[in-house]
Amino acid sequence: MTQPSDQSTALDNLLTESRAFPPSEEFAKQANADASLYEEAATDREAFWAKQAERLHWETRWSQVLDWSNAPFAKWFVGGRLNVAYNCVDRHVDDGHGDQVAIHWEGEPGDTRTITYADLKREVSKTANALLSLGLETGDRVAIYMPMIPEAIFSMLACARLGLTHSVVFGGFSAEALRSRIEDAEAKLVITTDGQYRRGNPAPLKPAVDEAVAKTPTVRNVLVVRRTGTEVDWTEGRDLWWHDVVEGQSEEHTPQAFDSEHPLYILYTSGTTGRPKGILHTSGGYLTQCAYTHNVVFDHKPGQDVYWCTADIGWVTGHSYIVYGPLANRVTQVVYEGTPNTPHEGRHWEIVQKYKVSIYYTAPTLIRTFMKWGHDIPAKFDLSSLRVLGSVGEPINPEAWMWYREHIGGNRCPIVDTWWQTETGAIMISPLPGVTAAKPGSAMAPLPGVSARVVDDTGTPVGKGGGGYLVLDKPWPSMLRGVWGDEQRYRETYWSRFAAQGFYFAGDGAKYDSDGAVWLLGRVDDVMNVSGHRISTTEVESALVSHPRVAEAAVVGATDPTTGQGIVAFVILRGGASSEEEGAALVKELRDHVAKEIGPIAKPRQIMVVPELPKTRSGKIMRRLLRDVAENRQLGDVTTLQDSSVMDLIKSGLAKSS
Ligand code: WT7
Repeated sequence: MTQPSDQSTALDNLLTESRAFPPSEEFAKQANADASLYEEAATDREAFWAKQAERLHWETRWSQVLDWSNAPFAKWFVGGRLNVAYNCVDRHVDDGHGDQVAIHWEGEPGDTRTITYADLKREVSKTANALLSLGLETGDRVAIYMPMIPEAIFSMLACARLGLTHSVVFGGFSAEALRSRIEDAEAKLVITTDGQYRRGNPAPLKPAVDEAVAKTPTVRNVLVVRRTGTEVDWTEGRDLWWHDVVEGQSEEHTPQAFDSEHPLYILYTSGTTGRPKGILHTSGGYLTQCAYTHNVVFDHKPGQDVYWCTADIGWVTGHSYIVYGPLANRVTQVVYEGTPNTPHEGRHWEIVQKYKVSIYYTAPTLIRTFMKWGHDIPAKFDLSSLRVLGSVGEPINPEAWMWYREHIGGNRCPIVDTWWQTETGAIMISPLPGVTAAKPGSAMAPLPGVSARVVDDTGTPVGKGGGGYLVLDKPWPSMLRGVWGDEQRYRETYWSRFAAQGFYFAGDGAKYDSDGAVWLLGRVDDVMNVSGHRISTTEVESALVSHPRVAEAAVVGATDPTTGQGIVAFVILRGGASSEEEGAALVKELRDHVAKEIGPIAKPRQIMVVPELPKTRSGKIMRRLLRDVAENRQLGDVTTLQDSSVMDLIKSGLAKSS
C-alpha cells in the first residue's frame, strides 16, 4: 500500500499514546446512549436500525428493513414513504415547538436573524411554492451555489419537500467546477447570490454562475438572493430575484410523501481521477442514520442544547450535520456565515459565549489554526456552556486533541473524533461521549449498528495491533446509492478492491492498537486532504497541464502543520523558462490558473519547476519520491526508477533555484 505522508506521524502517535479520557460519571448518567446500545445492535442489526427509523415520521411504514439482493445497490426501509422536509420542519411545529429557535444565524458583517421552527416552515413553504411556479417537477435537479445564509438551507429543504434532487456546490469552487457539476447533473435551476462576504469584504458570486450556465443548456433559470448588494449582470427571462419570486408566495404548502429510496441529493467529491464523482444519497435510510448519529454522538437534547457545526453546506458535513440530522432532531443551532478571524481571531468564541453553545463540531485544521493564534484568545471568553466537542475531516493529532480538550473544553467536555465520508453519508466510527474512554487521536470504534474492519492486502481481517485498509463489511442505512450516471464507476471505485469478500473499500489506511481501538492513518489512494477538503492529485495535475506552458505535472500532498496536507506540484515547462524572473512569474500564474480551474482551495502551496519527473519503467510517476523531496526527507528506494539520475537532476535544480 502507498504510504500517506501523515501515516508515519500517526503511527508514532499510536505507539506512544497511552492516555484515555473516560466521561465523567455525571456526563455518563445523563447521556442519550449507554453501552447497552452496542449489545442491542449486535443482537439484531436490522431490528436495531428499524428502531432508529422510528425517530422519523413515516407516512407509510416500510415492509422490509433492508434489501441487499441487488448488492452493491442497497434499499433501506423498502416500501416506506416519508417527506424529509416534513420531518425536519413541520412535525416540530405540529408537536407544539413552533416557537423554538431553529437557527441563530450570524452574518459575517454582524447582522443576525433568529429563525424559529414556525418561521422555517413558512420560509420553506414559500420557497417550495416558488420552485413549483418555475415549473420544476419531482426528480428534477437543482444546483445550489451559495454562501452560508438561511436561504441556502430554505432551498435545500424546499427541494427535499418537493422531491427535487439538490446538488450543492461549494461557493469557493470556480465557474468551471460549477459548470461541470451542473452539466453532469443536468440541473434545470441554479440558486445563487449576487455576492458573498469573505474576510470582511463582499466578493462577487453571480459572475461565476453566468460563466458556467453560458455553457449548460439544461439551466432554464437562475434564482438570485441579494446578499451583498454587489452589482450584477442580468439575463432577462433567465435570471430572477429571490425577493421577486419567493417573497410573494403563499406560506402554505402541503408536503407529499416520497419513497424511502427517492433521490435526495447529489454531492460531488474528488476521487482518484480528474473527474469528480456525483455521490447519490436517498431519503429514509439517510435521514435515519443522520438523526441517530446526531443524537447519540453529540448527546443532543432538543430544546436544551445549542449546537454549532462550523462546516459549510457545500460539504457533506453541512448536509448531514447542519441541515438534515440536526433539524430532524429539533435542534437549536448556530449558523455562521463567515471566516473564523473576521473581524478578529476570537470570533468563534464570541459566538459560543453569545449563544451559549453547548455542542461544537469542527475540523482539526481549524483547531490547529486556533492553536497557532494562541490559547489566550479563547481564554478571553466564557466557554462554560460547552459540554461536547466534535472533530471531523482528517485524523486529529494528539497535540491538537489535547489542546482542544484543555483550552476549549475546559478539561470537562468529551471529544468525539468522528470518521466518515461523503459516501457514508453519516458518522460511522466515533466514541460515544457518555461511554467511551477516548484516546487522543483515535476515532475508537464503529458506532452501534455499523460494521467496519481493518483488513490486509488479501482482505483478511487483522487482529489487535494489526494494520491495513479500512473496509465496511455490512451495508448501512445512509450509504451512497451510487455514482450519478455511472454505475461502473461506483462498482470499480468502492466494490472491486475486495470484491471476493463483498467489502466496501473506504480508501483509508487504518490500524488497531493493542486495545483494539481504531486509528485512521490517512488515504491510501491519490486523494489529498487539505484542511479537511478532499482534492485529487489528478484533478490538480489536469488543471496544471491545461495551461499552455505546462508539458507535464505531478502533484503530491505533503505534510503541513496547519492544513494537514499541502499541495506541492512539480511541473515540466514547455520550452523551459528563460530567466529566474520568468520562472517566478510563471509559477504565480500557474497557482492562479489552478485556483481558476478548480477553486482557491486547490491552489498549490508550492510549485517546483523541474527538468524531469521520476517514473517507473512502466511510466508511472513515483509520487513517493516526490513526496520525499516535498517534505525534505532522505529519498526512499530509487531502484525501480527507469532512470535513477532523475532524482539528482531534480534535487540539484531545486537547490539552485532556492
Ligand atoms: C475522508 C472523507 C466526513 C466529512 C468530512 C470529509 C478523512 C474524515 C476523519 C477522521 C481520520 C478522517 C478520511 C475520509 N476523514 N474524517 N475523523 N479521522 N480521517 O468528508 O471529503 O468525503 O472525506 O476524510 O480520509 O476518507 P470527505
